[in-house]
Amino acid sequence: MASPAVDRVRAALAKQPRFPLATLPTPLHDAVRLRQALGGPSRCPRILIKRDDLTALGLGGNKARKLEYLVADAKSQGAHTLVTTGAVQSNHARMTAAAACVAGLRCVLVLTTTTATPANAGNLLLDRLYGADVRFVPSVDPMLAVGQDEAVVAEVVAQEQAAGRQAYVIPIGGSSGIGVFGYVGGTAELVDQLSSMGVAPTRLYFASGSRGTQAGLTLGAKLCEAPYRVHGVAVSAGEPEKIERARRIANEAATQLGLPERIDLPELVTDQGFIGEGYGIPTEAGLEAISMVARTEAIVLDPCYTSKAMAALVRHVRTGELTPAQTVVFLHTGGVPAIFTPSFAERYS
Ligand SMILES: Cc1ncc(COP(=O)(O)O)c(C=O)c1O
Repeated sequence: MASPAVDRVRAALAKQPRFPLATLPTPLHDAVRLRQALGGPSRCPRILIKRDDLTALGLGGNKARKLEYLVADAKSQGAHTLVTTGAVQSNHARMTAAAACVAGLRCVLVLTTTTATPANAGNLLLDRLYGADVRFVPSVDPMLAVGQDEAVVAEVVAQEQAAGRQAYVIPIGGSSGIGVFGYVGGTAELVDQLSSMGVAPTRLYFASGSRGTQAGLTLGAKLCEAPYRVHGVAVSAGEPEKIERARRIANEAATQLGLPERIDLPELVTDQGFIGEGYGIPTEAGLEAISMVARTEAIVLDPCYTSKAMAALVRHVRTGELTPAQTVVFLHTGGVPAIFTPSFAERYS
């Protein structure tokens, strides 16, 4: 049975337009073999993996939850076309293309690329499979290019308008006040699962990029009175703008839900210790995490996001920052198609 706090959140969310896209609830998996590999119950906390890589839409991932609210908003505004941006292997872009198929909308993706001919593999291959119109913005650095794409987005919106179609622009990562609803709902789901299992984890680990997931998880944890502290693991630089963005969109969401709680900067924890050389560049600790989780649980992490978050969890087990009496949750946010790109695949040839 849900707590009164969770019931209040569900009632507030039920008033927001939502277009169903994800298969929910996602499983909460007890990773006993991973725990064993990290020293067993005498050395390692219980690890529960929340399988949001299994949201199903277009090969799954965290963005399905945000897109349910963003697509509903687009449809309520009479939009014909979803437009969004990201790096060439963006999971968010791929899932937006998938959502457009299901919602009967067109999709234009403005993707930044560091090479003239990016490999037609992984997420980019799926973008094309889902019929998206893909436009490239060349850049020397995938993160620097974020922002340079704005002129191309404006051009796309104008072209759509000239063709008699209204475009709905989704910000990078789907990280807006409306997108935040996705992980407020995701938190209600998780808190219900934890209480029916009778466990009270101390921390929730997840990979943090554009910060919409963090804003939703942090607001959700506060509203649902979750037992755990939300521990974001950054996969790219960008402070202090990003923490400010997380606060702003979390509070926009709270306002729109008609709830009085607000998020302050100290509540938005983002561990900067696992980025490595930069966005999209795998780390040794992340690669070790990918192999360990694959070979214990047959669960696939990705080189850009989830591997870095798992590397943080593994480090904290090894340093004793996490103790065996604890339970922790690892939110698997997806990203699996990236392993089918040549640069990753060659590591296992
Ligand atoms: C697999 C995966 N994990 C985590 C994230 C981070 O989510 P957010 O951009 O909401 O911080 C993303 C974002 O693209 C992602 O694709």
